[in-house]
Amino acid sequence: MTGRYRAMVCRRLGPPEVLEEAWLARRGLQPGEVRVAIRAAGINFPDLLQVAGEYQHKPSMPFVPGFEAAGEIVETAPDVSSWRTGDPVILRLRGGGYAEEAIATASTLLPKPAGWSYEEAAAFPVAAATAWTALVQRGRLRASEILLVLGAGGGTGLAAVSLGVTLGARVIAVASSAEKRAAAQTAGAASCLDPASPDWWRGVTADAVFDPVGGVLFEQAFRALAPGGRWLVVGFAGGTPPRPAANRLLLREAELIGIRAGEQGRRDPSAGMLQDAALRDWLVSGQGRPRLDVVYRLGEAGTALRRLSERQVTGKLVLRIG
Ligand SMILES: NC(=O)c1ccc[n+]([C@@H]2O[C@H](COP(=O)([O-])OP(=O)(O)OC[C@H]3O[C@@H](n4cnc5c(N)ncnc54)[C@H](OP(=O)(O)O)[C@@H]3O)[C@@H](O)[C@H]2O)c1
Repeated sequence: MTGRYRAMVCRRLGPPEVLEEAWLARRGLQPGEVRVAIRAAGINFPDLLQVAGEYQHKPSMPFVPGFEAAGEIVETAPDVSSWRTGDPVILRLRGGGYAEEAIATASTLLPKPAGWSYEEAAAFPVAAATAWTALVQRGRLRASEILLVLGAGGGTGLAAVSLGVTLGARVIAVASSAEKRAAAQTAGAASCLDPASPDWWRGVTADAVFDPVGGVLFEQAFRALAPGGRWLVVGFAGGTPPRPAANRLLLREAELIGIRAGEQGRRDPSAGMLQDAALRDWLVSGQGRPRLDVVYRLGEAGTALRRLSERQVTGKLVLRIG
């Protein structure tokens, strides 16, 4: 299949506005690959970091951002028998989602649930995989434990609230706006706290903390960690990575656990298979349906990333394509 397709391209690192629309040339499929006509692409905080040159995985320039998308298969390599042209699928990518089409390895695709829109499907995999890796695989969260979720109105935060509730934990959500707290409550949080309230952490004793924010919130919330508690280091949306003093871990006999949801499966295929099976189960049961905030057009990717950087998003932003 020859021809060209539209994409949002990063040709120089910087603020979201550096993204520009461009036509790219199609390439042929390699064995094991499929071509997907993308209908929607999920927006994630790491996209923002990647465009700014601050993400751990630095693609060669120029690049198309986007770690997740959903669409229909339009071509399969001759050796691919698991999918057919026309199948609606969810893509988990290492980049390239902000485009009218993408090539994916067939084994990484997930089936789009029939009752979900393409926008919902596109917003699912990154947050779901992050929440599952943090709470189940690395955090060993058990029923009846107390889970404190920071940034609980954001993409990964809301997914962690939902999963924590499903696992039987009592979830306490921390979020900065009434809208974000209401979303966390709808997702099942037992109580919601405003980090702007003085001493908001007083009275909280958490067995596990899901932390995609870091910064000042880390310093405050660490006081709420129970003896033997697990602190799940997910990200640093609030700024620079905190530098916890080891004596505070010692005194609490606490664990500080780093989370790399995407990398874990690449490093440890058996862990990747478990994550994959968990996400497929969620999709079959209809669990983990994302809460969408604003849906933008492909050409508005910079505007969408700007909105994310300004902390205005409750749930997920999505680009509608085609
Ligand atoms: N470890 C992994 O595998 C993995 C996977 C995906 C994402 N991440 C990381 O997790 C972090 C959050 O990702 P996300 O998709 O949940 O992002 P998000 O949807 O933007 O949510 C992040 C939350 O952080 C809080 N926040 C505090 N200060 C902020 C600031 N200056 N700018 C933006 N947000 C701020 C906001 O909550 P309040 O307004 O309530 O404070 C916001 O809702 C990012 O650092 C991302 O790179 C890690």
